[in-house]
Amino acid sequence: MTQTTATRRLWRDVTVFDGLATRPEPMAVLVEGERIARLIPMQDLEAGLADACQDMGRGGVMTPGLVDCHTHIVFGGGRADEFEARLEGVSYAEIARRGGGILSTVSATREADEETLFRAALPRLEAMIADGATTVEIKSGYGLTVADELKMLRVARRLGEALPVRVVTTLLGAHALPPEYRDDADAYIDLVCEEMIPAAADEGLADAVDVFCETIAFSVAQCERVFQAARAHGLPIKAHAEQLSNLGGTAMAARHGALSADHIEYLDEAGIQAMREAGSVAVILPGAFHTLRETQAPPIAALRAAGVPLAVATDANPGSSPLFMPSLMLNLACTLFRLTPSEALAGMTAHGAAALGRPELGRIQEGAPADLCVWNIDSPAELAYAVQPGRLRQRVFQGVPSHD
Ligand code: NIG
Ligand code: FE
Repeated sequence: MTQTTATRRLWRDVTVFDGLATRPEPMAVLVEGERIARLIPMQDLEAGLADACQDMGRGGVMTPGLVDCHTHIVFGGGRADEFEARLEGVSYAEIARRGGGILSTVSATREADEETLFRAALPRLEAMIADGATTVEIKSGYGLTVADELKMLRVARRLGEALPVRVVTTLLGAHALPPEYRDDADAYIDLVCEEMIPAAADEGLADAVDVFCETIAFSVAQCERVFQAARAHGLPIKAHAEQLSNLGGTAMAARHGALSADHIEYLDEAGIQAMREAGSVAVILPGAFHTLRETQAPPIAALRAAGVPLAVATDANPGSSPLFMPSLMLNLACTLFRLTPSEALAGMTAHGAAALGRPELGRIQEGAPADLCVWNIDSPAELAYAVQPGRLRQRVFQGVPSHD
């Protein structure tokens, strides 16, 4: 008798959303070790296979584990005071100009040591895991010195080692102009290009490099310099762009082969065509749109018509999106931006993974890593339709179920 070393687990009679679409018939899903081994229509399931496998149950909806491709969950302090100021009518941009906003989180993050940041981020990431996330991107961007940016990235890496989740890190040194460079943004960009990116690359701490291209942050020319430095160090790039105005940052990022352009409420047709040509993913962030009470939605219909893949993420952060619940974004993406439930779900699975340059993730297909969720619902659309914690029946990370 042959000895199989990998554990074989079998789910039966599940409705499978495979990352792009819902399979038309009930399926059996076989996982061997860390990988999805087979996807079998129930009517073709051979007698005897179940006997050779651990029975993982029947029914429900199976999706890939959720991929949250844009978060800022490592930070010090909080910004409830800013939330109140905004409710009284002060804008996000005005708070930033007054030295609050991102810079207030920068002060608190600089003051915090690695352990403090780690302990603060842990429950945020645990909440995302409990909601079905199996891959979470985490950005730096609240340190804005070489040491403090690396500190944030180390915390992000440590979070991925401590919890059953894949953490992908992004260096966001060009997030805001730190106060010590107030009158010399170009000198700060020199620091990002000549010291921060090389140090993060040398230590293997960053999987990608991001920028905030905006009137309250950095110009297109400054962001372009950051991208050139990133590419020189072999790091993929992405951009926060066209969030509050249209500067053309998306088109520039696409010309440099960006994995994604994120926010993009003010994106124009030229930017859309540039993304299409580059194969960049449009990451839409309905949590920030909702929290900032924005009124200009991203050009979803035009992106769809151009065939630009749409990813959906939380943008979880202490200012513009203090929302640490990936599944809520499925609902908000549909309600606020009129995505279909299937598009929203693809946005948090296959397309979210593409935005991270990890196309093997976010899919239920043979050979893919077995990062899966089984939900107590009847159809995948219910995930976007209702905001209802507690529906996650099983979450499987690298083949291992974390709860039943
Ligand atoms: O994605 N847009 C810039 N950065 C973050 C906000 C960070 C913050 O407000 O602390 C965002 O919305
Ligand atoms: Fe962001």
